[in-house]
Formats: sequence, C-alpha cells, structure tokens
Amino acid sequence: MAKIIGGLGTSHVPSIAVAIDKGLADTADWKPFFDGYIPARAWMADKKPDIAVVIFNDHGNAFFLDQVPTLAVGVADSYRPIDEGWGPRAVPDFPGAPEFSWHLVDTMVENHFDPLVCRELEVDHGMQVPMELFFGRPEAWPARVVPILVNTIQFPIPTPQRMWDLGLVLRKAIASWDTEETVAILGTGGLSHQLQGSRAGFINPEADRAWIAEIGDNPEKYRNMTREDYVEVFGSEGAELIMWLVMRGAMDEKVHTVHSHYYSPASMTGAGMVVLENSEA
Ligand code: DHB
Ligand code: FE
Repeated sequence: MAKIIGGLGTSHVPSIAVAIDKGLADTADWKPFFDGYIPARAWMADKKPDIAVVIFNDHGNAFFLDQVPTLAVGVADSYRPIDEGWGPRAVPDFPGAPEFSWHLVDTMVENHFDPLVCRELEVDHGMQVPMELFFGRPEAWPARVVPILVNTIQFPIPTPQRMWDLGLVLRKAIASWDTEETVAILGTGGLSHQLQGSRAGFINPEADRAWIAEIGDNPEKYRNMTREDYVEVFGSEGAELIMWLVMRGAMDEKVHTVHSHYYSPASMTGAGMVVLENSEA
C-alpha cells in the first residue's frame, strides 16, 4: 500500500515567489526566511516522495467570487502555474497523479465529502510557493501532485474539525491505494495575517510560535477552535491555517517534529514551516 512519509506545513506568501524570481533570496531582508527552509529541502531530497498532496486555497485566480467551491480536488494530468500579474514564472508545469486523485475523490465521496472535481486547473501561489520552498527550482518537478483546494477566502469557510476529518479520509485513501508509492502531505497557508479591514496588517507572532510548537503534539487545541477563533487569533487570512489540519489529521496520533522555522514579518505575514514524521513509521 502507499505510505505517508511526512507531513509538512508552510506559509505560501506570494512575495516569496517574487523574491525568488528577482534573486532577492540572499538579501538581508529575505535570507533569514529562506535559510530556515534549507533543512526541509534536504529532508525532501532525501525522502523523494512519489506524490505530493498539496492542500491550499485559491486566491481568486482559478476561481473568482462568483463560483467558490468549498472543497475541490484536481484530477488532471498536469497543472499550469497561473501568472498572477508579475509575469510568467520560470516554474515548470506540475505533473498530476490522476489515478490517485480519482481514488481520493472516490474515497472522499464514500466518506461523505463531496468535492468539486477539476479536470483542468491552474494553480496559484498557494501551490507554487510551497513546492518551490520544499523542492527548490527543478527543471521538472520530482514528485507528481494532487491539489486539494479549500475555500478560505469567502465565508462560510469550513470548520477546523471538518478539515481534521478530511485528513482522516486522506489517510484512508493513501492506506487503501494499492501501490508502493510514497506520499508527502503539504498543508499550506498562514501564518497570522490580515490583508483587509480595520485590522489590516495584524500579525500575532506569539500565537504563530505556539502553533509551530504545538501542531505536532497538541493538535486537539487547534481542532477544537472555532472559525471565529481562527480569525481573531490569526487574522482573517491567517484562518488559512485550518488547511494544516488536513495534513495533521492524515498523520498518526503520535508524530515528531523533524524541522521547524518561524520568521516574521515576511511581507505582511508571520511565516513559518514544520516537517512532521509519524513516530511509529
Ligand atoms: C499574502 C497573500 C497570501 O495568500 C498569504 O497566504 C499571505 C500573504 C499577501 O498578499 O501578502
Ligand atoms: Fe494565502
């Protein structure tokens, strides 16, 4: 059966992509942020997963506010990186894993999750940035991807508990996938930020550091919070963090944190990362 080799969480701030494209990664502003990802990239190069399941939200690029699916899964052969206005990026297309995607969709429906199924999909910074942070800038991506998109941009967003339950279903789908493939799960978004309204510019580094420290060993704390709690503690866009719960829910009860990193502010955002492995694996 297929096997989960790790769960990773990371911010997906779009200015990270711009910093890479403009060669700013070694500047004083950005180096402390990028240096924190070096061990995670080495971990990924060592583990070489066959498939990366990436949980992220579209930001009005593939879908706009006229059509916002609460949950969507890509089943395409490949996914084109969207140009978000800074020009086309030197990022290769992401090869899909349609067989596993369809198995995942089927397992979801069997377990009462009913996603929008995308045969064609362009992916924005929600997926581009995490892939670059963990895999670098390869000429071709070494892992095939399965995009899971969650609405975190227009209320009502799903509950944290629902994200956890989706993680349990993802775990089931991997455990029942009759191949020897290895899977890394990337939960993306956050950390604290708010880009709009009277609290625009809000970040909460203390809560971010607690999240990074606790998401491995004490996910119950975050699973039991309400959506409103997320907005209050992490900001209206920091509520993207609910997507890390899909990753954490898919992992075993006992995990250990192999790498973690926190830096703020990156752009207007608390930015960070964890790499988790199942402890019994
Ligand atoms: C920004 C956008 C994001 O989608 C995010 O997750 C963090 C920051 C931004 O525009 O600064
Ligand atoms: Fe985002």
